[in-house]
Amino acid sequence: IQISVLVSGRGTNLQSIIDAIENGQIRNAKISCVISDKKDAYALARAKTHHIPGIFIDPKTFSSRQEFDNRLLEILKENKTDLVLLAGYLRILSDGVISEYKNKMLNIHPSLLPAFPGLHAQKQALEYGVKVSGCTVHFVEPALDKGPVILQKTVPVLPGDSEETLAARILVEENKAYPEAVNLFVENKIKIDGRNVTILD
Ligand code: GRF
Repeated sequence: IQISVLVSGRGTNLQSIIDAIENGQIRNAKISCVISDKKDAYALARAKTHHIPGIFIDPKTFSSRQEFDNRLLEILKENKTDLVLLAGYLRILSDGVISEYKNKMLNIHPSLLPAFPGLHAQKQALEYGVKVSGCTVHFVEPALDKGPVILQKTVPVLPGDSEETLAARILVEENKAYPEAVNLFVENKIKIDGRNVTILD
């Protein structure tokens, strides 16, 4: 299957998928393109290193979110995308793109959803004072960070943690969780019924 990955930043999650494909953890999948809304996203450099086409879509050249997303949709279709991965993509997607890829678009979020949606999830976790946090891979729905959950991994929140130390601990799990979830999708092992996700074995 053909995967398109949407990014805005450093791309460690993108890297984890690239590595999983290259080392055979994920078979029968190819990243056809990496799309960024930020010109200098390090994720684009990672794509280049692995000979994956990187495409920068400049938000400044579109007059509305709708027009930007129409161009995005065009690129996804040109690449015959079967699965869209959001990997640190910081733009809100319009409902049109999301419904076009219903149950075919995944996101990773650095908290145990539904706790701490939105930006700065790790900071929110520290401020709340939870003792456990982690990451969530979920299907994307129009409401932010609210789609059906595929898998979650937990980490402890330790005394003395800063936003950075907690984020780093969660990131280690993110970089395992995303390739695992993508592999389940590629192997057709995710059954989804409403909000209910079952992993087949
Ligand atoms: C990760 O923490 C991810 O959960 C969040 O944005 C960050 C992206 O990191 N959605 P990277 O660009 O994959 O390194």
